[in-house]
Amino acid sequence: MTSDRVIELLRKAYGDEMETVMNYQTNAIVLDGVRAEEIKESLQQDIQEELGHAERIGQRLKQLDARPPASSEFTARQDSLQPPEDSTDVLSVIRGVLDAEKDAIETYRELIDAAEEADDPLTEDLAVELLGDEEAHHTEFRGFEKEYRRD
Ligand SMILES: [Fe+2]
Ligand SMILES: [Fe+2]
Repeated sequence: MTSDRVIELLRKAYGDEMETVMNYQTNAIVLDGVRAEEIKESLQQDIQEELGHAERIGQRLKQLDARPPASSEFTARQDSLQPPEDSTDVLSVIRGVLDAEKDAIETYRELIDAAEEADDPLTEDLAVELLGDEEAHHTEFRGFEKEYRRD
């Protein structure tokens, strides 16, 4: 069996993934300009991955006899990922993505520790895999940030 802390972190991670999907999608639609094209494409790919993360977390919660949260239990937290007033401000979106990915990395690291402590290897494995995906996203957008800061 697992701990309350594992359940709590899984539920938090589920909400974060859903908020990420919403904000990546909105930004992928809102951004304008030639320079935004690559970022929009990358966001669109990530939306599918983040949605897949949410689904796997939700299924794990169910296996643990718990439930993922729905919208009434949800608190939005991604302030820096709100679409910029200037729809060509690609750098603002890149920085928002970096914040979101950093946050996800922290949550999955915490989940790995909590799952290990609770002797829940399946949740631990899932968290390790998702951590790998988020680190890859973070690395990709760190590269974008370098390029956009230079110009
Ligand atoms: Fe994710
Ligand atoms: Fe991600």
